[in-house]
Amino acid sequence: MVINFICWQRTKLAWILALLLNLVMTIQVHGQPPPSGFISIDCGLRNSSSYNDSTTGLWFNPDGGFVEGGTRKQISQEFMADAFNEQQKTMRSFPDSSRNCYTLPSTIGKKYLVRAMFTYGNYDGLNKTLDGSVFLFGLHIGVNFWGAVNLTNMSPSAVIPKEVLTVAPSNSLSVCLVNFGSGIPFISSLELRPLQDTMYPFVNSSVSIGVLLRTRFGNVTDLITRYPTDTYDRFWKRFSTSYPGVNLYTTNKVESLPGNNFFNIPSVIMQHALTVDMNFSRSRIIIPTATHPNLDTKSLHVLPIFHFAEINGSNPNRRFDIYGNGELLFSDFSPSRFQVDSMHQNGRFLPYGNGSFLMNKTSSSTLKPLINAVETYFLVRMDKLTTNSEDVNYMKEVKNHYNLTQINWNGDPCSPREYSWEGLTCHYSKSNQNPRIVSINLSASGLKGGLALSFLNMVSLENLDLSHNNLTGAIPDYQIKTLKILDLSNNQLVGPIPDSILRKFQAGLLDLRLEGNPVCSKFKDTYCSNKKKNTIQAMVIAVIVPVVLVSLLVLMCIMQKLCWGGKSDHEDYAMYEEETSLHVDLRRFTYVELKIITNDFQSIIGKGGFGIVYHGKLENGDEVAVKVLMETSIAESTDFLPEVETLSKVHHKNLVTLKGYCQNKKCLALIYDFMSRGNLQQLIRGGDDYSLKWEQRLHIALDAAQGLEYLHESCTPSIVHRDVKTPNILLDKNLVGIISDFGLSRAFNDAHTHISTVAAGTLGYLDPEYHATFQLTVKTDVYSFGIVLLEIITGQPPVLMEPQTFHLPNWVRHKIAMGNIHDIVDKRLLDQYDASSLQSVVDLAMNCVENAAIDRPTMTDVVSRLKELLPVVASEKMSGSASTSSMNPMDAEIRRQFQLTISGISNEEYSFRSGYTGGMSDLMPLSGR
Ligand SMILES: *[C@@H]1O[C@H](CO)[C@@H](O)[C@H](O)[C@H]1NC(C)=O
Ligand SMILES: *[C@@H]1O[C@H](CO)[C@@H](O)[C@H](O)[C@H]1NC(C)=O
Ligand SMILES: *[C@@H]1O[C@H](CO)[C@@H](O)[C@H](O)[C@H]1NC(C)=O
Ligand SMILES: *[C@@H]1O[C@H](CO)[C@@H](O)[C@H](O)[C@H]1NC(C)=O
Ligand SMILES: *[C@@H]1O[C@H](CO)[C@@H](O)[C@H](O)[C@H]1NC(C)=O
Ligand SMILES: *[C@@H]1O[C@H](CO)[C@@H](O)[C@H](O)[C@H]1NC(C)=O
Repeated sequence: MVINFICWQRTKLAWILALLLNLVMTIQVHGQPPPSGFISIDCGLRNSSSYNDSTTGLWFNPDGGFVEGGTRKQISQEFMADAFNEQQKTMRSFPDSSRNCYTLPSTIGKKYLVRAMFTYGNYDGLNKTLDGSVFLFGLHIGVNFWGAVNLTNMSPSAVIPKEVLTVAPSNSLSVCLVNFGSGIPFISSLELRPLQDTMYPFVNSSVSIGVLLRTRFGNVTDLITRYPTDTYDRFWKRFSTSYPGVNLYTTNKVESLPGNNFFNIPSVIMQHALTVDMNFSRSRIIIPTATHPNLDTKSLHVLPIFHFAEINGSNPNRRFDIYGNGELLFSDFSPSRFQVDSMHQNGRFLPYGNGSFLMNKTSSSTLKPLINAVETYFLVRMDKLTTNSEDVNYMKEVKNHYNLTQINWNGDPCSPREYSWEGLTCHYSKSNQNPRIVSINLSASGLKGGLALSFLNMVSLENLDLSHNNLTGAIPDYQIKTLKILDLSNNQLVGPIPDSILRKFQAGLLDLRLEGNPVCSKFKDTYCSNKKKNTIQAMVIAVIVPVVLVSLLVLMCIMQKLCWGGKSDHEDYAMYEEETSLHVDLRRFTYVELKIITNDFQSIIGKGGFGIVYHGKLENGDEVAVKVLMETSIAESTDFLPEVETLSKVHHKNLVTLKGYCQNKKCLALIYDFMSRGNLQQLIRGGDDYSLKWEQRLHIALDAAQGLEYLHESCTPSIVHRDVKTPNILLDKNLVGIISDFGLSRAFNDAHTHISTVAAGTLGYLDPEYHATFQLTVKTDVYSFGIVLLEIITGQPPVLMEPQTFHLPNWVRHKIAMGNIHDIVDKRLLDQYDASSLQSVVDLAMNCVENAAIDRPTMTDVVSRLKELLPVVASEKMSGSASTSSMNPMDAEIRRQFQLTISGISNEEYSFRSGYTGGMSDLMPLSGR
């Protein structure tokens, strides 16, 4: 059946040839029909050197037909002899372009296992894994982030498999390698395995799952059990045990109940199990949710599936409880005899990527727990939308028609946004609609030959620029739909110009540009003029007239000053009003008005990087904060007003509302709602007379997080705050956290890069990556928010001075390392806090302050994690305050055990970590097959 696939590849050959090929293939693989739909690709393999893999009997093909770009490479000679398998010997590396994609044929809506494997093997002779630098690149499944391939500090011969279970979004499935600027991406092999639609029922078009760990227990010879033992070619890693672990084995068949097709675990795997020696003092099995140091699992949500079958011949009494990080998942479970029980929580993801599962004998049980196999998965969100499929097909046509192999157009054209194709402009709607292409710029792209028709059928295309190419022939008669601009200037096109296009042009519906084409030797309409005359005229009007007017105004002003002593504020205002007023519904204040509402700038309520904030009262009694910006030179800045315009459109309950502004020679100010409880910094460090309660702190954190999430996710383009810090989080009378000063830093910074560096963040809050890249992204805000969260927990400033200088995250790490996490908590809380949420909040904060931006969560993640914590607090409030300070005893017990790693199979846990080294997503030692 692999034959089908070969056929697919050679559709262009004559059918006779294909038939012949089929026959040859049939003969070659006879006796071993591989399952239908398997696609096995050995990346970097020379074209036309397919082979039959000796271990699996599967047919592996070169990757040439599935990918464009990249270069073929092979691992260095010293690692060849011991290569884990044939596929790990060659690879394709991608030094060019930030994203490179493989496209695999698939069936829309069908479930697949996709596996990519990576062996560096020092192919470039640069010892990249061991030179001390970070070696890391990204992996996308379609347009969604699947995971990072982290080779930092790995042995060059390490094999890293990555597996994902996913639903094909269309009749092709792409796997993309993404360059993060920390090493050149490469790939050794890529495999596609269809699953039955009934399998892994929680996987659907919006949820994919990545393998953290898939392991089988018992006395097993093969390091990896895969096809043909597992017909779906899942990788099952061996787990070898030693005392007190005991291996069990049965020769009886162990199968699922008929009709249960959720996991289809091979009987061979279920015939083996692990239990704990009856003479050993403990009766537990502990399994880590994931196990590799190079894999950041802290922020992952994990979905476990346990496979059990009682394989003890006699009629045993075996009952146990199953816990996940202290939470009872299944109680008093008793495995069925010779029958598979696959235990999972209907696709529920548990919020502890780096926790453990524990199986604990119940008191009534005679025998100790047993386990046959386990799988753990992390959530791969499939929330990014692919480009509208019609647009994609048109783009493919265009690409083929013009042979655009030199441009790195691969993967989805518009999605994810940061990797959209060069020259395209896409429209991303906020509702659940696929992105569409609105503009294509292929100017000076070396296009040759006739005009392709495809562009004009795209119903969302508005702007097409094909100027400065070598397009030849006539202009075909198109039925132009949505196109508004068609730039064909400077090509070799000849006439005549079709009526349909001319009519559109004459009706003023199309901006047609044809200058620089032979066709213009006959036609002299405006589309053939190179518009220079027009532009010069326009320039005369646009430049000279204002200059004259301004000179006149200046003259008038000077004369006025001479006559009136130049002291009228009103004149000031009037003079600028016409030029600069905004097209927004914002009140514009004059300097005199500001003077009145602030009572001659009497009461200062704050001082910041941008200036001084005064308290004010409007005519109607509303209290306002008047922020008078320092540098009046910004009044001339072109950035200030557009920024104010943007801010005026941002409305969210956790973002301060802009009420008005003042801009003229005398003043530059913003007028906001007044927040009566001041800012978070004052409240946290304001002395001992008033202290926020734990719950209030979490609420304020959530408020601030929601405000930032709105700026990042709901504004297009995203607004990066750039200066998140406790003084910029204000509190209203109900202690609701309100973010201020967003967006402002941009106006300041861009306008004054030559003078000021003040606006780009504040010491102690600034993203460490910024120092390297000088780019402020939404993750910069996440970092700063992490610092804010630590301040909220500890009550300490971002940089501690006494007894020595400490950056807050380091201080927290230091304290935790010294023993007790409770030492970091703000003493003013007097132990009145919820101990069980403390760990999670600290984890979240530390996650936000990861050095590498990609390791940090998004604000959306932060919001959902904070929300998870809040109900706990709320319910405890209702049940009285007595329990708030006491730790959940179960929690404490489990945590202690994990720290000591004492359990029924504590040794095993160690060997699990070092031997298994981390589930499917990780390293396999290169020994034995
Ligand atoms: C890589 O490591 C090997 C042995 O450790 C060394 O001989 C070689 O010079 C290194 N190559 C580079 C480019 O650093
Ligand atoms: C594992 O099985 C092999 C035979 O398959 C046997 O020789 C060996 O002793 C067994 N090892 C353990 C630890 O049970
Ligand atoms: C990559 O691996 C290195 C070394 O184990 C580790 O320090 C780093 O945190 C990892 N990075 C990620 C993003 O997992
Ligand atoms: C294990 O089970 C025993 C009783 O069978 C119980 O006392 C103990 O708390 C349990 N431990 C854990 C960690 O669940
Ligand atoms: C397409 O481009 C490639 C390389 O750029 C070239 O080898 C090939 O001949 C071109 N094909 C056509 C049809 O122009
Ligand atoms: C068009 O083709 C000619 C030769 O065929 C070449 O000299 C010229 O540079 C090309 N122009 C553009 C804009 O590619």
